[in-house]
Formats: sequence, structure tokens, C-alpha cells
Amino acid sequence: MTKGFSWAPESPNTVVHGDNLPILRSLPDASFQLIYIDPPFNTGRKQLRQNTKSVRSSTGTRIGYKGQTYETVRGLVTSYDDAFEDYWEFLEPRLEEAWRLLADTGTLYLHLDYREVHYAKVLLDALFGRECFLNEIIWAYDYGARTKSRWPSKHDTILVYVKDPRQYHFDSEEVDREPYMAPGLVTPEKVARGKLPTDVWWHTIVSPNGREKTGYPTQKPVGILRRIIAASSRPGDWVLDFFGGSGTTGAAALQLERRFLLIDQNPEAIATMQRRFAEDDVAFAESEIGH
Ligand SMILES: C[S@@+](CC[C@H](N)C(=O)[O-])C[C@H]1O[C@@H](n2cnc3c(N)ncnc32)[C@H](O)[C@@H]1O
Repeated sequence: MTKGFSWAPESPNTVVHGDNLPILRSLPDASFQLIYIDPPFNTGRKQLRQNTKSVRSSTGTRIGYKGQTYETVRGLVTSYDDAFEDYWEFLEPRLEEAWRLLADTGTLYLHLDYREVHYAKVLLDALFGRECFLNEIIWAYDYGARTKSRWPSKHDTILVYVKDPRQYHFDSEEVDREPYMAPGLVTPEKVARGKLPTDVWWHTIVSPNGREKTGYPTQKPVGILRRIIAASSRPGDWVLDFFGGSGTTGAAALQLERRFLLIDQNPEAIATMQRRFAEDDVAFAESEIGH
């Protein structure tokens, strides 16, 4: 593990240990083609708040909905839910950095669950610009107990925003295709080729006893990350995940020959990534600013 961290486009694939916010602030503008983040859900929000200083933007006059400023929209939305207000206070300065770090052709994928996603969508529309919203991806899975008191919730949502709707990169030809549900209704050529996935993705979770499992509790499947990276970046592009966890984004980036920078503040996550990338050419750094 190297002490101190600085990044340049010539850097090797890198994992950094530290709080992501000061590290993000040290990175140069427009450096990443793709940013995927899977922030921690509502657990520990109060705790997060203590570690974080809210940073009011210098552009306090950004226009949100119908001529209202972003700050007005933010006040309205967060007034519905104190817990969400804490969460957004943590996330907002990091999302502002994410926007700054995206290349002009770049895309942000923000992985959330049903408790946060609707508030987050309204605020992101106001923060990024509604015209920059590209997709809402539903990742549906089928695992675990089923409550009988309501519809069992078995999906996550990934919001997709582009930096610039006139020049973002998206290549559906690179995406893995899916089998037709009724193959008898289409030609054998179509069956052989498969169909292009839509914005609803059926994918199993990481199997508790499968080969992919790292033991890190919130690990996401590499198949989900492969699809995102294949569509929204090219080989050799830089991919950033600043809630790195077990390193799934790095694992998919390695498979697809993209370069990556991952950040996590939890020593367990760093240890998991050291095991996961033991055979790969990946640098590990300890951030001096991120603690
Ligand atoms: C839901 S997990 C990410 C899981 C990851 N997508 C994977 O597939 O393994 C969220 C991660 O964010 C990290 N985290 C939370 N707050 C952070 C912060 N301020 N700076 C850096 N990492 C943070 C946690 O340690 C945790 O590993």
C-alpha cells in the first residue's frame, strides 16, 4: 500500500483508501468517461451526517423546476423526510464532484433503492438538468423472503444521467443480448442473435455460494456492471467508482479492458479488493487527505 495518492490519466488501475469527498476534490475536471456509484442506503445516515460538512454550491441560482432555484426544490423535497435530508446532505457534494469529473461524452450511473430513488430523481433533475436524464434502469432479482403484507420489493433502480445530451457515448452494439421470451414467434436468425436489453434487467444477485462471491455484504453482480461499462465507455477509457465496496466495477472494467479508479473508506472493502485483484496489475494507495 503506497502512502499518499495523486492521479493522472497515465496512472495504473488504482484503489484508494479514504473518504471519497476530499479525494474527489483533488481530481482534475472531466477525467472520467463513466462514473458508477452505489452509495450506502439509509443505514447510518445520522452517522454519515456527523462526518460530513454540507457544502453549499457557489452556483446557488441554478434553475430547477419552473424557474425555481435548485435550492428551493431541494428544500421542498427534503422537507418530506428528515432521514432523506441527512442522506442528501451527504450525497449532494459528492454528486456535484461527479458532475465536474465527467468527460463531455460521459455518463453517471447512480444505483439506489426504492426508498431513496424518487426523491433523488427530482433533485438530480434539478442538479444535472432534466435534459441530461437518460434512463431509469430497473434491476429485478428474485431472492430472499417474500412478505405477505405488501408486494415483496425485489428490485433496485439505477438512474442514468449524461453530462451533455448532445454528445454522450452510448453503444448498444457492445451490450450482451438476451434470449427472446417467445422464440417461436421470431426468425431463427433473431433467436441466434438474441434481443437488445431494455431498461428492465433481470439478473440474479451474487449467489451466496457461487464463484463470484467475495464475502463483502453489499457486493453487486459483475454482469450488471459489465452491461453498464460496455454501453457507456470504450476500451481504454477511465471508469470511476467512489463507493467501491468489493471492487465489482474494477472487476468488470478489467474484463472489458477499461481503466479504473476505485475509492472506499472501509478497511474491509480494501482488504476484499486486495484479495480480488491479487493476480491483476492494480495499485493500492492510502489517501492522506481522505481521513
Ligand atoms: C453499497 S457499498 C458498494 C458495493 C459495491 N458496489 C460492490 O459491488 O461491492 C457502499 C460502499 O461505500 C463505502 N463508503 C461509504 N461512505 C464512504 C465515503 N464517505 N467515502 C468512501 N467510501 C464510502 C462503504 O464502505 C461501502 O463499501
